[in-house]
Amino acid sequence: MPSSVEARRPLVAANWKMNKTYSQGVNLAQGVCDRLERSWRTKVDVVMCPPFTVLRGVSNVIAFDRSFAQVGAQDCYWEPAGAFTGAISVEMLADLDCAWCIVGHSERRSLFGETSEQVARKVSALLAGKVTPIVCVGEPRDVYDAGDTCAYVVEQLLASLEGVPAPQGEVVVAYEPVWAIGSGLVATPEHAQVVASAIREAIARRFGEQAAQRDRVLYGGSVKPGNVGMFTSCPDVDGVLVGGASLDAESFCDLIKKVVDA
Ligand code: PGA
Repeated sequence: MPSSVEARRPLVAANWKMNKTYSQGVNLAQGVCDRLERSWRTKVDVVMCPPFTVLRGVSNVIAFDRSFAQVGAQDCYWEPAGAFTGAISVEMLADLDCAWCIVGHSERRSLFGETSEQVARKVSALLAGKVTPIVCVGEPRDVYDAGDTCAYVVEQLLASLEGVPAPQGEVVVAYEPVWAIGSGLVATPEHAQVVASAIREAIARRFGEQAAQRDRVLYGGSVKPGNVGMFTSCPDVDGVLVGGASLDAESFCDLIKKVVDA
């Protein structure tokens, strides 16, 4: 039996945010698939999360190339169908081969007023629909400066999982310090490890030890090819969520190669 850490294959997820038109997104996905080496298939999970309008284009590129890359969404709504103008259901995502979905990203929380209670409803809907949630948590600068990160992040995570039944499938947690997102600032690996470990302990208390050993914890916030190694070398960091550096195929695949070679 491999140790539990070895069993958690690294996950590199690309958060394109509100970038790329359909044709630009298809080009980017094609550039990524062209550069992914077949031998990496067993060494890393790669997920591209484009805007909703590009999901079909990316999943077509992946299918045509028989690439091991996968497609994910950046948000969803918890109701299955009905009068919810502008919303996208889990079933709609799954129908586009979307196996992953980011929820509770700090931009959704701060710019769109999303609450942890709403995030929890989305997580439940995703798990019921067999789409793996990537639940984002992270502290603002003042909390970091006060040294209260772990307590803040664990509380935010538990609130974002409130009422979620013990899942059969994986729940990925992405730890992204709010002050590190898009700023060029990064946490130290020591800080990332301490928080990732606190997140894993919280998962163990919430869903049991088996889930805690299975579920991957990612670091996110200004991750680039040049700094990814210091995060993935942390024992409780199982991959990264990448914004800016995922918008260029060469830099994104350079980053993936660093994870594979680590
Ligand atoms: P960044 O974004 O890599 O551009 O900092 C990360 C994220 O928001 O997921």
